[in-house]
Amino acid sequence: MLTSMKEMLEHANENNYAVMAINCINLEIAKAIIHAAEDCHSPVIINISPRQFKAHATLEMIIPMIKKRSEQAHVPIAINLDHGQEFEDIVYAMQSGFTSIMFDGSSLPYEENIKRSQLIRALTREYGCSLETELGHVGQAQSGDNSREDYLTDPDQAIDFVRRTKTDFLAVAVGTAHGEYPKGMTPKIDFQRLKELKEKLRIPLVLHGGSGAGEENIKTAVKCGINKINVCTDLFNVGRDTMKSEIEKNPNIELLLLEMAVEAAMKNYIMAYMKMIGSTNRYMYTSQNMTIVE
Ligand code: G3H
Ligand code: ZN
Repeated sequence: MLTSMKEMLEHANENNYAVMAINCINLEIAKAIIHAAEDCHSPVIINISPRQFKAHATLEMIIPMIKKRSEQAHVPIAINLDHGQEFEDIVYAMQSGFTSIMFDGSSLPYEENIKRSQLIRALTREYGCSLETELGHVGQAQSGDNSREDYLTDPDQAIDFVRRTKTDFLAVAVGTAHGEYPKGMTPKIDFQRLKELKEKLRIPLVLHGGSGAGEENIKTAVKCGINKINVCTDLFNVGRDTMKSEIEKNPNIELLLLEMAVEAAMKNYIMAYMKMIGSTNRYMYTSQNMTIVE
């Protein structure tokens, strides 16, 4: 069922697990995400960023498809705007049927981030959407941003930020970054800071840059209070690498079979990640109803 990210992440917060938020740009990824969630009895979040919907995943086409299939699903599914920055993109996403908005003002000066987050908060309430914001800055792995101390979220500032913006969830910078880390490198996560953020804020916390962060890091981050993990790069790479290997095996492979192989590989990757972050077997379906497993 299509659901609010608020209920979903509050359940994750109370029960100490995390939900995957996966970037989706086509039919194969949508199917891989929804089928993985159903097979794992897991909630899931479908992320689409403004760049992705402008370049390829046209909202008029992709949202009806995702909504229709999500409504038939026996697990909770939320549709979230990933890294919304421009006012027009955010309004367009809400009008198109997203159930949640991430407003990313993390590159702005503090007071400006607050001011714009407050404005988006008011708008999300009108549209019945939940709101994720970001404090500190999760940058790019390629630029080494994961090692930048000055990008990390300050726990005391976070208290003020959450109180004034009334955000539902907060994306925190604790040592991950977007994209691929240099070969062989695993980021160092500031778990002490993460624990302090959780103790002080008590709301669902979000980890961006869920690719290549290392299994132990991810599991510990969940134990320390992360409830939503954004994943894009690794999943896209699974898709690309599967295409490469299928074509190497059979250069004349039919496109239909190639797409199906890509979808199956992505579904397997998602299911393994769901198990790792503890979101599996949280929702059970009987012909009468869907029940939450505590
Ligand atoms: O918002 C999306 C993410 O934070 C994804 O990061 O591409 O490193 O997995 P990633
Ligand atoms: Zn991100």
